[in-house]
Amino acid sequence: MPLDTLIFDASGCGFPKPRIPHLPILPDCLNIAPGEQPAWAGAAHFRHFIRGRFALREAYRLAGIGPGSTLLAPAYHCLTMLDPALALDGEVVLYPLLHDLSPDLAALERLVAASAAPAKAVLATHFFGISQDFAKLAAWCEKHDIALVEDCSHMLLTTQFRAPGCGSHGDYVISSPYKFVPSPDGGLLYARHADMLAGLDCRQPSLKEELRGIAYALSIAKDSHQASRTCDINRLEHEFAALNEEAIPKGHHARDSCSYSTYYRPAKERLASLRVSRFIERHANTTEIAARRRHNYHRWLAGVSELPHCRPLFPELPENCIPYMFPLYLEMPDPHFYYLMRLGVPVWRWDSIAVSDCSTANDYRMHLLHLPCHQSLDQNQMDWMIAAVRKVGAGGTALNHTCP
Ligand SMILES: Cc1ncc(COP(=O)(O)O)c(C=O)c1O
Repeated sequence: MPLDTLIFDASGCGFPKPRIPHLPILPDCLNIAPGEQPAWAGAAHFRHFIRGRFALREAYRLAGIGPGSTLLAPAYHCLTMLDPALALDGEVVLYPLLHDLSPDLAALERLVAASAAPAKAVLATHFFGISQDFAKLAAWCEKHDIALVEDCSHMLLTTQFRAPGCGSHGDYVISSPYKFVPSPDGGLLYARHADMLAGLDCRQPSLKEELRGIAYALSIAKDSHQASRTCDINRLEHEFAALNEEAIPKGHHARDSCSYSTYYRPAKERLASLRVSRFIERHANTTEIAARRRHNYHRWLAGVSELPHCRPLFPELPENCIPYMFPLYLEMPDPHFYYLMRLGVPVWRWDSIAVSDCSTANDYRMHLLHLPCHQSLDQNQMDWMIAAVRKVGAGGTALNHTCP
């Protein structure tokens, strides 16, 4: 069933390519020499995919999502979390989240009672690498005979390593290792009981696909090296002032009733990740990755703590959490989001989401920025991003940001 979706189209805004990569790049934090880390569960518990969305597809399918059944999914989301259920012709019902992005259990209860098609699965997400306690939700799912699909896409989870608090409640657990290690692709499906995955086979990539993947990863590393040379704090003042000389066209708001988004390609279902990606996952130095990400997260916290017009969503980084991104709440996304994007700051935002009456999702949709804190960022890049956010935050609303 198509979903009513709010679309924010920034294609006319003239935003340049970000100067710094959102995700880690080769060849960072790898332990090539020492032996492989041991896996934390037997290989039969895992299947590899090219992206987490295809791991989700299999989790949903195995949980019974299809015509005449419902997936309960968080109201704040990336569309790729819903796409696989829509591709399976399932219904998607969005459940509200509290301000800390934990599920509203009372609302879930009401939604299940009101759902026309029986709920077969709940998707529960640990957003931004901040682990949630899903124990109560897991008990609730068991009581209602609903599968719990634990979304660890924002958690460091490979076959070799499981971040603390990650993946212990789901019947199925998915992750996106490429968000944490510098691999060209990678999506992982874990099932608590290996026999739940019996008969699920994936096509292995061809040699040509392997070579293309390696070339892609190296070209990203090269491009990002070149782009980040333009990150000069001394030029920020001038670049920020130059924004005033031209009108910044605003994004276009639309509403669409669509099935799965263009980010989902059914032709890529059941395609295993590249061998090189699996090699990189096996050889990732997770201790170093965790330490550098935590360090960068703390740098963000220190950099924005006194700023007006914005606040970190999670002002404390819980012990043991390995952050995926630094979520920053902007009071005035218009104009501050536009300025940051025009400066080439790497910003992600889930501004296209399915319609719900969840106040958290409706608020975070335009206000919450996802800023990188990954291990490949060097000191200059961190300094530059923080300086850019400080400049924009301190710049108020004086600049010209209207449509031409
Ligand atoms: C929380 C969450 N879950 C799942 C996905 C899908 O992951 P992937 O990009 O690996 O397909 C995303 C995508 O960004 C995500 O943010």
